[in-house]
Amino acid sequence: MCGIFGYIGNKKEAANIVLEGLKTLEYRGYDSWGIAVVNEKFNKAEISIKKKAGKIGNATIKELPQSNIALGHTRWATHGSATDINAHPHFDCSKNIAVIHNGIVENYLDLKSKLGEINHKYISETDTEVIVHLIEDNLKQFPFREAVFKTFKNLLGRNAIIALSANDKSLVVAKNGSPIVLGLGRSENYISSDAAALIPYTKKIIFLEDEQLAEITKDDIEIYSLLTGKQVKPKITILDWKLKEAQKGPYQHFLLKEIMEQDDGIKQAVSQNVDDINTLSRLIKRSFGSYFVGCGTAGHACRAASYIFSIIAKRHINFCVGSEFSYFEDFLTDKSLLIAVSQSGETADILEAVGAARRHKSKIVSLVNVIGSSLSRVSDLVIPLRVGPEKSVLSTKAFTGKLALFYLIAYTLAGKYEEGKKQIMSTGDALSLLLSDNKFIENIKMIADRIYQMQDIYIIGRGISYPIALEAAHKIKEASYIHAEGFAGGEPKHCEISLISEGTPCIVFVPNDETKTAIISNAMELKSRGGMIIGISPTKELVFDEWIEVPDMGITSSIIEVIPVQLLAYYLALRRGNDPDKPRNLAKSVTVK
Ligand code: F6R
Repeated sequence: MCGIFGYIGNKKEAANIVLEGLKTLEYRGYDSWGIAVVNEKFNKAEISIKKKAGKIGNATIKELPQSNIALGHTRWATHGSATDINAHPHFDCSKNIAVIHNGIVENYLDLKSKLGEINHKYISETDTEVIVHLIEDNLKQFPFREAVFKTFKNLLGRNAIIALSANDKSLVVAKNGSPIVLGLGRSENYISSDAAALIPYTKKIIFLEDEQLAEITKDDIEIYSLLTGKQVKPKITILDWKLKEAQKGPYQHFLLKEIMEQDDGIKQAVSQNVDDINTLSRLIKRSFGSYFVGCGTAGHACRAASYIFSIIAKRHINFCVGSEFSYFEDFLTDKSLLIAVSQSGETADILEAVGAARRHKSKIVSLVNVIGSSLSRVSDLVIPLRVGPEKSVLSTKAFTGKLALFYLIAYTLAGKYEEGKKQIMSTGDALSLLLSDNKFIENIKMIADRIYQMQDIYIIGRGISYPIALEAAHKIKEASYIHAEGFAGGEPKHCEISLISEGTPCIVFVPNDETKTAIISNAMELKSRGGMIIGISPTKELVFDEWIEVPDMGITSSIIEVIPVQLLAYYLALRRGNDPDKPRNLAKSVTVK
């Protein structure tokens, strides 16, 4: 949460470079943004800042002087509302230091009272401001790098900061928990919250580890351990991402682009190193309890995994949402297996779950999209999702990529790896045809037009279509802000049927499987109370008021089922005037507990 970006080099347009970086990182939070540059005037250097509440949009930074050092921040508010004053960067009293921050300083009130409010003037309501005043205090005794070092050591919580001093021609960055990637250029270096924002500038990167601090000049990067104070040798990684993958291309929004890429995405997800897939299926077989853990959309994927493993591998697996996992900690032993599932690999609740597994010496496997992310670095085995950068805050291709991978692992566990791979590949082919069918898209747009002013949407599915119903509701809520709820098809008669009235849209998943007869009866129950039934199914059923036809892909139909609802969510967002890539109050990487 929150995006941070820094530049130091021989180019004079540092502020512009940072502004472009922030636009790429805006998915991490868009409550406010701000940039600081060092302004050199007649042998005296000072810091100039521009910061504003709201999204970056078409912001200009003409007020900021030319400079070759800058840092910037895009905020997801935690402490203090989304105002200009609470926007980062924050100054110390002398205005010689500026700091940007990602995370929560859990002991900021303590630190504030130790520092003494009398000696320091606080302007904002943020936890961040205490950091810059602490650095100011430490600068009385130590040079800049050490002052930041001492300060960061005092912060509790998962944090990343960049500090800029007007007098030192360097940026100092430190992290514990929140992600930081350093980009190496020629006579210039970069700092970013993610690697994707660096693709236009360099492919040579360093993932800063937790408990590390780096001092960055235009020609050098020095990394120090925050635990020992000693310098450490950086490990340089070469990114193999293409610029095209991180851009919108011909699409108006990343969300649409990423929905449309899912045919290829699921194929990529199963084009894995077969040894890793075999190792993971062996680990599941040998484990005494395997726990699939994810949050939000990844949590729905984990629930789907429990059906997939049951149907295909006849194997019970446990699933749990990340934020609840530590309450089951007492079940963990050194024979347990945690499978942590995350697009970003930075979700704090997942990293907490990993911490719980570590405490009990359980094995940790991660299924993660962002290579080099915190999760991938703390796992015993990493299976990359390989669906390419996902930029829209709404997760789509990572979701179907996860399902595809779960199917492959379950097939492998059942001794049918080849059959599983073939099945996913043909599902990808069917998806290509579906996504290029204009009639399919137009039908969904028409349904969006019909229901976009509704207050509630209910969605039901049975078996594996139940987690798909949950995910479908999740997508509609995020994109359209319409209240939507997903249920196991048999459940509304126990309660929610009381909420159905004339014309309430009810989406029903009717695959050609063992759930078909029962789910049609459940749809009838809703229709009898006035529900407008939108069926997603390979065959048209009498109960449907609207029908979205999808191909029958047998056991892997769940991958296809979710696609029309992702598209519906997109068109509902457009119809209601929402930004489909940046839903209000949400951020892509949830790095706070
Ligand atoms: C949904 C969405 C969120 C994420 C959740 C977990 O569209 O984007 O619900 O799925 O925050 O994120 P990752 O997968 O990065 O751990």
